[in-house]
This record gives sequence, C-alpha cells and structure tokens, in this order.
Amino acid sequence: MPVRSNQFTRLDLGAMSGPNTNYDPVEVAVLRPAAVEAAVNDAVAAISAAATLDDLKQVRLAHAGDKAPLSLANREIGALPPAAKADAGARVGRARAVVKSALDEREAQLLIERDSAILVEQAVDVTVPVQRRPVGAQHPLSLLMAHIEDIFLAMGWRIAEGPEIEHEWFNFDALNLPANHPARSMQDTFFIEPADAGVLLRTHTSPIQIREMLKGELPLYIACPGRVFRSDELDATHLPFFHQIEGLAVDRGLTMAHLKGALDHFAAAMFGDGLTTRLRPSFFPFTEPSAEVDLQCFVCRGASVDNPQSFCRTCKSEGWIEWGGAGMVHPNVLRACGIDPDSYSGFAFGMGIERALMFRNGVRDLRDVIEGDMRFSTNFLGGVL
Ligand code: PHE
Repeated sequence: MPVRSNQFTRLDLGAMSGPNTNYDPVEVAVLRPAAVEAAVNDAVAAISAAATLDDLKQVRLAHAGDKAPLSLANREIGALPPAAKADAGARVGRARAVVKSALDEREAQLLIERDSAILVEQAVDVTVPVQRRPVGAQHPLSLLMAHIEDIFLAMGWRIAEGPEIEHEWFNFDALNLPANHPARSMQDTFFIEPADAGVLLRTHTSPIQIREMLKGELPLYIACPGRVFRSDELDATHLPFFHQIEGLAVDRGLTMAHLKGALDHFAAAMFGDGLTTRLRPSFFPFTEPSAEVDLQCFVCRGASVDNPQSFCRTCKSEGWIEWGGAGMVHPNVLRACGIDPDSYSGFAFGMGIERALMFRNGVRDLRDVIEGDMRFSTNFLGGVL
C-alpha cells in the first residue's frame, strides 16, 4: 500500500532524489488540476495585460521561463510513478501549450501594433514644403575655358588677358585690317559713342596678342581667352557676344609645322588621344598664309564618311568639324608691334568656345548657354570632360 501523505509540498519533493513509487501525484500540489488551471489563468491574464513587447518578454520569462510555475510543475512529472506520469504529463503539456500559444498570439499582435505605431510616428509628409538650398554650379563655359587654359599651361604657355573695351588700333589697325576693311563697319562691330572716337567692344581676342607683343619680351607663347562682341542677331546658333581662345607663338624659326603640331596637341588634349587637325587654305588680314582649322571628328573619327549605315550626327558624316582659324602672323603685324619679321616668325590660331561646347557636349541651342538657367549649368555638375 502506498503511503498517502498529505503533507508533501513542492519543496519536499524538490528535496527528493529519483522516482518515488511511494507517493501519489494527486498529492503533488503543483500538479493538481486546479493548480495547473490557476497557473494557466495567471499566465493568460498576465499575457493579455502585457501592453508592450518588453512587458511580454517579462511575462514570458515569468510564465514560460525555467522558473515559471508550469515549468517547475513539469519537472515534477519525472519523479512520478509511471502510472501517474501520463495523466499529469498531458495536463501540464496542454497547459504549457495554451500558455505558449497565448504568448505567441499576443506577441504577433504587439508586433503589429508596434509596427503600425512606427509607421504613424515616422510618417513623412512628402508634400510639406522644405527649405531648399540649391546647389550651385559653375557655368559649363567657365569649366571648358579652365580646361583649355590648363592644356596650354601644361605646354608651358602663359595665359594672357586684355580689356573688352578696346581701341580700334589694337582691334584692327595693328592686325593689318586696312581702314576700309568691311569687318570694321558698324554692321559687325559695336562702337562706343561717340563713334568717331575709335573705341569699340573687341571683336576678337587678337588685340590681346598685340598688347603682349608690344611688351617686347620674346619668345612669346600665350593663350588668350576672353569674351568678344559682334553685332549678330541672337538665335540658336548666333550670339552678339561669345568667347574665344586664341593662341600666339612668336619665336625664331617658327613654321606652319609648329602651328600644326600645336593644333594637333590641342585637339588630342581636348577631344581624345590621336585626334588630328586639317588645315584648309583661307584668308585673314593678320596671317599669311592663313588656314581654316578642321578637327577630325572625335565621335566617328571619319568612319561614317560614305557610310550610309552609320550617320554621324556630330560631323554630319563629313569626318571633320570646322573648329577655327589659324596662320603665320603677317609681317605687317609683327612690324606694328616692333618685332623684326626677318628675325622672328609667329603662328596664331583662334576658335570659339561656345561652338566647341556645342559640338563637344551636345548643346543644341546657344540661347541655353547665355540665359543663365541653373538647370543648364547643373547638367554639367560633373564637369565638361
Ligand atoms: N581672330 C580671328 C577671328 O576672330 C581668329 C584667328 C586667330 C584667325 C588667329 C587666325 C589666326 O575670327
């Protein structure tokens, strides 16, 4: 006969070692149905009272952790006589399952609540106006000019500048443009009033070269960037003012070969390795001989010529792009600057910068270049290269 003992407590059992066939599970207080049910009720109440995930974590520890009443009860099962194990085991197992699923369910609920609270708290109203600080940008013309200047500085040349308001002697006479030359008429040139004072807005940057040669320091290797003015109507391809870069070298023994070498180097540095230029006979009053400078197309490099399959938009499949003018400095120009043309010779070239920006960087309308719309400049935030 097993000894019935009412005075067994959980603590008493805790002190026991190994199974003891001498006691009845009904007498193990924590395994009684009422105690198990109470533990479940406690747990469920605590679970539904948990208002946050942190609360629930504490509740989980208290009601499903190692020291939770049901966990402790579960441990008692091992000590029961085999006959009693199944019943108590099933009871405690069911109870723990109920607690576990209540915990899981509440956790899922609290997660949803937390996430939707976050969505509300951290919601951003994208329609609220913000204080904008627009990013500035250098004008692409300035970027391109700086790039061109760097090319000449790297060749050991100097950058020279001069006034935009110029006397006609520097702009025309010294450059061998006779008094009756058509370019001197009011049509092309902005004269400053009174018109007979001979003061004008320079029509090219060549007067800078005159000023530099007059300084009398030879040899001379200069690049002259600047703004020039001509009385053209403003349209997609014409401006009443634009920018030029002119180059001038004066030294002993300079020839067209040196001019061609300098132009080829400039072309390659600005448009791509290996690109060359082509000189076509032309006329300028200040150079003799004179030439038009064409640039080998930097997009198709000539491959689109006579090839209807691959039309090149940059050179219109001509293989060459008109780039500027050039020539050997006219002896009259050297003389006007006090340089002996028998001892020195010079070459010069000049090209428009807006035009280069157009064909090089795909600008279609010159008006975009001068209108000052920031959206145009910010297209070139990464540079013009
Ligand atoms: N000064 C010429 C112009 O304005 C360009 C040029 C410069 C041509 C130097 C030949 C030599 O068009």
